[in-house]
Amino acid sequence: MTSIVHAYEHLNELPKADQDLMQAAIKARSHAYAPYSNFHVGAAVLLNDGTIVLGNNQENVAYPSGLCAERTALFAAGANFPGQAVVKLAISAASLDFEVSEPVYPCGACRQVMSEYEQLSKQPMEILMMGATGGVHVVKGLINILPVAFNADNLKRK
Ligand code: THU
Repeated sequence: MTSIVHAYEHLNELPKADQDLMQAAIKARSHAYAPYSNFHVGAAVLLNDGTIVLGNNQENVAYPSGLCAERTALFAAGANFPGQAVVKLAISAASLDFEVSEPVYPCGACRQVMSEYEQLSKQPMEILMMGATGGVHVVKGLINILPVAFNADNLKRK
């Protein structure tokens, strides 16, 4: 069986354009506002026309009011570039307290949002994940990390 995860030992093994997208996520990570968890996440969304939209986690003293990097980036893309298909999403995470050397996978709520943007985009979304150091995991298509998702058809009368 072919693996659903393409694992790379190092960022420089990826195609140059993907390296650049991850570098954009790493830069976005440096602007995270995460004083409560000290866990900084950056996300970079690649749109169909080549535009890259950045996001990072934004926390709040009322903890549940904060938002993950992935949704911050995707909602910014949806708000500012409506109708543009989302092609790829790169994620990088780092902690101020310990080394993050494994790729960090998006939380369930972000996967749900990614799933909807993927449907709107009519193409499988490529997800590139990395810690602060170490390798990169690439997954092609939300189906691999969110099978049998709740979707818009579920709201329609049959
Ligand atoms: N976080 C993200 O931004 N993305 C993820 O994929 C996992 C978690 C954020 C939410 C919160 O600000 C902090 O990381 C700790 O959970």
